[in-house]
Amino acid sequence: MRLVVTGGAGFIGSNFVRYMLATHDDVSIVNLDKLTYAGNLENLRDVEDDPRYRFVQGDICDAIIVEETLRGADAVVNFAAETHVDRSISGPQDFIRTDVLGTHTLLEAVRRLDIPRYLQISTDEVYGSIEHGAFTEDSDLDPSSPYSASKAGADLLVLAYHRTFGTPVLITRSSNNYGPYQYPEKIVPLFITNAVDDQPLPVYGDGRNVRDWLHVDDNCAGIDLVLREGAPGHVYNVGGGNDIQNLDITRRILGLLGKDEGLIRFVADRPGHDRRYAVDCAKLHGLGWAPRISFEAGLERTVEWYVAHPEWWRPIKSGEWRAYYERQYGDLA
Ligand code: NAD
Ligand code: DAU
Repeated sequence: MRLVVTGGAGFIGSNFVRYMLATHDDVSIVNLDKLTYAGNLENLRDVEDDPRYRFVQGDICDAIIVEETLRGADAVVNFAAETHVDRSISGPQDFIRTDVLGTHTLLEAVRRLDIPRYLQISTDEVYGSIEHGAFTEDSDLDPSSPYSASKAGADLLVLAYHRTFGTPVLITRSSNNYGPYQYPEKIVPLFITNAVDDQPLPVYGDGRNVRDWLHVDDNCAGIDLVLREGAPGHVYNVGGGNDIQNLDITRRILGLLGKDEGLIRFVADRPGHDRRYAVDCAKLHGLGWAPRISFEAGLERTVEWYVAHPEWWRPIKSGEWRAYYERQYGDLA
């Protein structure tokens, strides 16, 4: 399979490239990535010399480079996106550009080049917040942030291309991923690396918001399965079944690192902060997928990875990251 992965230098994309190369002998992968602040070729250092892998620096909004890169592909998996909710609140424009227009640029190329399979990596955030129970793939979209609204817009375009042009599309909507190589703006790597350095952990609001945590390797297995066996035109939820309050995850991280809960700081809430996410994954279970990594084991492994790899995250936590951190967290920084 000749696979084009976009956004493969980011967190989930790089784990997916590694996962696919390790799992399938007959796969070749071209990784098209713009290398924004979140893209990092260090994430793929261990596979860069694999003859089945090639990197192309480029923007998914650039129709020329997209068409050149996609020509001859058997499948495209689109991870490329602006992904951080807080950044979408302070500056939505890049989100609308990459997440909506970028997706449209890819869809146009897939249609013109007759590519047999296009998988859009979406998010459970498109459904919005749910107090009890879980969203199915048929639930209405009700996004809260400019990030999730952009992702929802992209999902609707993807499904419209299927309905209008018969483009062979698929969508996965996953819950919160955690694991190695996640940019330290998201709660898990931010809190682990701050705690290592005895820096405060900024918990938004009352800390009772709930997210469903999914180890990135389990997500990669789900994406691989949907890519091979999903039905065109269909959406598949991917969740870990681990509904956990932010305060609970914060305490677990501190516990694993042997740090004091005095590092916790309650700070102003995120505007439009969704209270709880939860997705029903029966459809993907029907294809034979189930998460394999328990949250306890996965979080312990993840904490160990960041502790063992300061050479990966210390250089990131300077420059652009520091400027963002100071803007976002004010006095705490
Ligand atoms: P990330 O922010 O770590 O990486 C995004 C990657 O996309 C980076 O390598 C960046 O350079 C690249 N990129 C950004 N704009 C681009 C452009 N215009 N052209 C080409 N490349 C561009 O993201 P992530 O957390 O790995 O998320 C990957 C995908 O999964 C996203 O589509 C996101 O919406 C979705 N998702 C993420 C999570 C999560 O918990 N992280 C959960 C559900 C869905
Ligand atoms: O649900 C899937 C989504 O998960 C993905 O689509 C997004 O790309 C990804 O960023 C993630 O979004 P969240 O907003 O849920 O992730 P984040 O790590 O930013 O926040 C998780 C929870 O922790 C959320 O309730 C906000 C809270 N939080 C976050 C940060 C960064 C804090 O309390 N303090 C913080 O400093």
